[in-house]
Amino acid sequence: MYLGFLFIYFIALSHGATIEDDNYSVYQGYKIIEVTPESNKQSKILEQFHEQQHKVPSVIFLSSTKLLNSPILMLVPPESEIELQSVLKSVKLPFRIIDDDVVTSLREERSENSRRRTPSRMDFESYHRFDDITEYLDDLSKKYPQHTALVPVGKSYEGRQMNAIRITDNSESRSTSDRKVIFIDAGIHAREWIAPATALYVIHQLVENFDSNRDLVKDYDWVILPVVNPDGYEYSHTKERFWRKTRQPNSFACIGTDANRNFDFHWGETGASSYACAETFRGPKAFSEPETQALKQILESFEGNCKMYLSLHSYGNYLLYPWGYESTLPPTWKDLDEISMAGANAIRSATGTNYTVGSATNVLYAAAGASDDYAFGAVKIPVSITMELSGAGSGGFDPPARKIKPFVEEAWIGIKAMAASVTKKY
Ligand code: ARG
Ligand code: ZN
Repeated sequence: MYLGFLFIYFIALSHGATIEDDNYSVYQGYKIIEVTPESNKQSKILEQFHEQQHKVPSVIFLSSTKLLNSPILMLVPPESEIELQSVLKSVKLPFRIIDDDVVTSLREERSENSRRRTPSRMDFESYHRFDDITEYLDDLSKKYPQHTALVPVGKSYEGRQMNAIRITDNSESRSTSDRKVIFIDAGIHAREWIAPATALYVIHQLVENFDSNRDLVKDYDWVILPVVNPDGYEYSHTKERFWRKTRQPNSFACIGTDANRNFDFHWGETGASSYACAETFRGPKAFSEPETQALKQILESFEGNCKMYLSLHSYGNYLLYPWGYESTLPPTWKDLDEISMAGANAIRSATGTNYTVGSATNVLYAAAGASDDYAFGAVKIPVSITMELSGAGSGGFDPPARKIKPFVEEAWIGIKAMAASVTKKY
């Protein structure tokens, strides 16, 4: 009896410890493999292989492109290596192992992150956990009550409070409900850590560097939600670095929905899987996730006032506008193109980094049920852009901490330019 309790106690303890300090041991034996399809046949077979990956564990595709001649990264469990190799050989698709010890790489990145960390300070030298991000927004709203307000957005599946921050110039006498809004979110996909970091940098600039950025807040309020998927974000810190989805369970073995396939606009049509285990699972129904419902509600609360929706993702250096569910262009595509080009050009002349601009379907791939199409098509926000930031690290989604600063600074240059272009036009 006594022993039994002790046993349970130890199980509970060790379980708690595994969740926090797991050190990515789930990736034991995993490799990252790169292939570059050069023909339609090769890319077709890869796509078919991808679609069959509903088992656990499965090969995880780490690249955000299906274009020919661009490298595709795959995170390959030891169990799947032979099968994958035979598929690749069957279409003479050469592959390259770019990381044969993923666990070690990720652990190195993790310790670099801890080393650079100044506790309880928001810096751009390291990645921050969700609670620290929440605390930062809280602190700002107390320290700058004249310019900021917290906007509660909802609760995640696991019960985390999601807050956005509204940044405003109170010297303008217009009432809040009349102000035009620029809305930015990040972290719809858990593993794309550079995206929340960028959203936080935008917040930092607009609030803590208010005087230099005053012009940007003159006619527009900015509302920024830095982590749309906090459960996934935390899970990618503690367990699976390359986790993408939410954390609400679906079938018995498969957890999570791709939040960026879960919006009710042409939901489930193209590029969205109906298999619960797939990386791009659309969810059992539109808005099945509390996090996407929360985002929908806050976007709709700005209907009419919000002129730009910007969703931060990584990676690949793209500025994407609608449509993302089909290849036709909306009637206003020239405006969208002009605004995105303003961002791309500003970045190119500042750092030389090349952003590809175009409609999501035409330059990347079709994927229905995404937040950008919903914002544009259902909420009628006239400018809706998905920004795929820079990639680095062994899987692209894991830029080492020392890259955060340059990446977020560069992104901010582009975001400023797009905002300036929007405020002039709308
Ligand atoms: N990488 C993003 C995703 O897969 C791109 C989304 C672009 N927008 C779209 N509607 N397809 O979610
Ligand atoms: Zn993404």
